[in-house]
Amino acid sequence: MSILFTPTKIGSLELKNRFVCSATVECMVSEDNRITKEYIKVYHGLSKGGAGLIIPGNYFVNGTGVAVAKNLVIDNDSVIVDLQKLTAIVHENNARIIAQLNHGGRQCDPKVIGQTPLCPSPVRDWLTGIRPREIKTIEIEEIIKAFAEGAWRVKQAGFDGVQLNAAHGYLINQFLSARTNRRKDDWGGSLENRFRFLLEIYQAIRSKVGKEFPILVKINAQDNIKNGVILPESIALSKKLDEMGIDAIEISGGIKETGFTTTKGDIPEDLLLDNINILQGLLLKLIKGKLERAAQFQEGYHLAQATAIKKSVSVPIILVGGLRKRVVMENLLEQGNADLVSMSRPFIRQPNLVNQFLKHPDSECITCVNCNRCTVEITINNKPLRCYYSSERVRGKAKQ
Ligand SMILES: Cc1cc2nc3c(=O)[nH]c(=O)nc-3n(C[C@H](O)[C@H](O)[C@H](O)COP(=O)(O)O)c2cc1C
Repeated sequence: MSILFTPTKIGSLELKNRFVCSATVECMVSEDNRITKEYIKVYHGLSKGGAGLIIPGNYFVNGTGVAVAKNLVIDNDSVIVDLQKLTAIVHENNARIIAQLNHGGRQCDPKVIGQTPLCPSPVRDWLTGIRPREIKTIEIEEIIKAFAEGAWRVKQAGFDGVQLNAAHGYLINQFLSARTNRRKDDWGGSLENRFRFLLEIYQAIRSKVGKEFPILVKINAQDNIKNGVILPESIALSKKLDEMGIDAIEISGGIKETGFTTTKGDIPEDLLLDNINILQGLLLKLIKGKLERAAQFQEGYHLAQATAIKKSVSVPIILVGGLRKRVVMENLLEQGNADLVSMSRPFIRQPNLVNQFLKHPDSECITCVNCNRCTVEITINNKPLRCYYSSERVRGKAKQ
């Protein structure tokens, strides 16, 4: 049997195979902060599709951290009942479900959160033009508490664990990065101080949910931007998290400001131009070549960094980013470069993907062509989660 279908464990959590459905925002939450029928339907489909572990799109720990509109804010107990229905459906199909918690920091849209976004230091995002406000110590403490309370709520709702989003340029990543964290107090400066926010969140959650409840983290191996997180730092962070008792680390990379380096592939210029102002449009034309080079798709584009991190820790490593070929996934697991393989865009297009892998052992099953139309339509235009591939608009053809 292929190693992809062998069981494994994350802390005390048993998983039937090595496939993880990586966190992917759905934009299917109503104005009164309720997950919709369509939302439940997505996860019903994914749980029937065979992945061992499913991580829904991030839940924001409070209203100042909503980085993508129409997604859940878990700042009060009223969310628990709806989420109980979600976890029950996923469990019925013998899959496990972990909730990703996040605060968007400076990557929030002021129009969505109704205020200037927060950041460790007021460093402008050159892509959006947004200049955030420096977060106050008291706000840092409130957000740490909000993460812990959010974790407690998802535990009550029947989730099998929690994942902290410390990747992709959101608030935790902003604290880790010397680019966005230029503070002179206990929360910035040295590496130890930049790690503090994440480690305090971890400890606050651990004391709220107990020793047995799995706590995972998604980190950037590197931010791919000047003064951002670099590999030696993410290795040091992983070692520290391992020592403290984290249950698994998912390895990703890139922040929004770098364009499409988290979701490498095509840059759907037509969609972007429809949605940005004239100045941003001019900027896009100017830097298009650079963006395209940075976003060039390669199979398993964080594999080398994940391998380096895996060598330094004992905790399970989940690799995400451009995994498409069965043989690549099998080899990396067999060679011990990672313990689980995680995907996002392929599952949007093919929720039944893992069953297809099982049914057709001799063929490549993934038909996603990394056109990134989902990335723009969902994360920027806040349209509901689905595949937005369009054969007329995409140079290459999706495999049938
Ligand atoms: C539409 C969309 C929404 C995403 N939402 C999230 C999210 O909520 N949290 C997160 O950590 N990553 C998010 N990601 C990133 C993915 O989890 C994943 O890291 C990235 O897409 C690379 O994997 P892939 O090549 O298999 O798509 C999103 C990606 C896409 C395309």
